[in-house]
Amino acid sequence: MHPSYVVAVLAGTVSATAIRRLDNGLGKTPALGWNSWNQGGCDAASASVALATAKAFVDRGLKDVGYTYVNIDDCWSAKSRNSSGYLVPDSSKFPKGMKELADQIHDLGLKLGLYGDAGTLTCGGYPGSQGYEQKDAQLLASWGIDYWKYDNCYTPCNSGTEQTCSSPAGTSQTWYVKMRDYLLSTNHPILYSLCNWGRDDVWTWGASVGNSWRMSIDNWGAWADVVRIASAAGPIAQYAGPGAFNDLDMMVGSPNSSIHPCIGHVAHSGLYDDILVQIIGNGKLTNAEERTHFGLWAITKSPILMGTDMTTLSTTRLNLIKNKGILAINQDPLGNAATTFTPSGKSPPVSGQLYRYWAGKLSDGVVIGLVASDGAETLSVNFADVPDLGSGAYNWIELFTGSTGSGTSVAASLDSHDMAIYKVTRT
Ligand SMILES: *[C@@H]1O[C@H](CO)[C@@H](O)[C@H](O)[C@H]1NC(C)=O
Repeated sequence: MHPSYVVAVLAGTVSATAIRRLDNGLGKTPALGWNSWNQGGCDAASASVALATAKAFVDRGLKDVGYTYVNIDDCWSAKSRNSSGYLVPDSSKFPKGMKELADQIHDLGLKLGLYGDAGTLTCGGYPGSQGYEQKDAQLLASWGIDYWKYDNCYTPCNSGTEQTCSSPAGTSQTWYVKMRDYLLSTNHPILYSLCNWGRDDVWTWGASVGNSWRMSIDNWGAWADVVRIASAAGPIAQYAGPGAFNDLDMMVGSPNSSIHPCIGHVAHSGLYDDILVQIIGNGKLTNAEERTHFGLWAITKSPILMGTDMTTLSTTRLNLIKNKGILAINQDPLGNAATTFTPSGKSPPVSGQLYRYWAGKLSDGVVIGLVASDGAETLSVNFADVPDLGSGAYNWIELFTGSTGSGTSVAASLDSHDMAIYKVTRT
């Protein structure tokens, strides 16, 4: 079925305000997949790495649980456009061209994504789309590209040409809308992923422009980053919905800058982490912290894009990211992002701190997340305190351990920074 390309006016479910939503028929649930950047920066933007990843998705059961997008990040193109103004794939990395790669990925039942930038250059210094939006959209469509991550480097700036301009000239909404309209006009289904690093309160307009939007600056891959980003996602949960999600960025462990030729000396200035994506497996977090990271990203309905070598991912991590119960929460058709709730007698959330109590409505129940954010502890919650539940008895299943029960409350004894996720349904 061909998606309808209209920007529909739909009634908002949270407020009474009408919300314009991009309705390209895509991203009704958060994207699941992989992105090349954290695996090896520029070096990982190649046909061979993309194909190895796609094959691992199939062979290691990731495709079966929903991982679909194989996304190539910065550095895939030649440094110059051709004389007709079109981007050209780097022939050393894509010897058979991009259309052939897309066909191969599609033959495996998967989808291929590419990266671009709204400014004059990508963050890594490759040609940006500014002034070439129509040609770039047409080219993506002609290749059969399924996903377009659109970065924000070298965009209009009040003071010269800055990579991550500190004083932007105008709102980034302008250039993100421009590309949206050219993508729509191709009449080809391309998921549109906005990467403006949470600027211009993108969550307030992102749903009318793209299928997801980065809501924060970079994730440096440490526990402090999980805390910072997840705590910022709670208050903007209401902006998420089918086809439009907060993107919390990479999951774990920004890589060592020295392995990234196109990061160079600016790696730790904060510039490049903006284009890093979700990753588990680079070794900065404890197992408990990886569970919490994955769990919070899942229940807040973030895209989950792996950023490490999928052919060598350990069994422990593979099992974590293949947790069907948690993926089902992330992919619930209601598209409702969990947020914090305050049980009676507890203190409310504090900005910048990771709150212990999370919940969100599902199409077939309610999800509750409990986070031992400040050391090992036992956390309990009465269902009567949980939004969309109320008094009475419920069935529950804890999705990391598989333990089940029923009653009017749950309690979890958690290690430091660990998390429990309950799916709760009426008895
Ligand atoms: C530039 O690239 C486009 C798209 O691949 C192609 O159609 C066109 O022929 C190329 N132009 C030249 C001069 O090579």
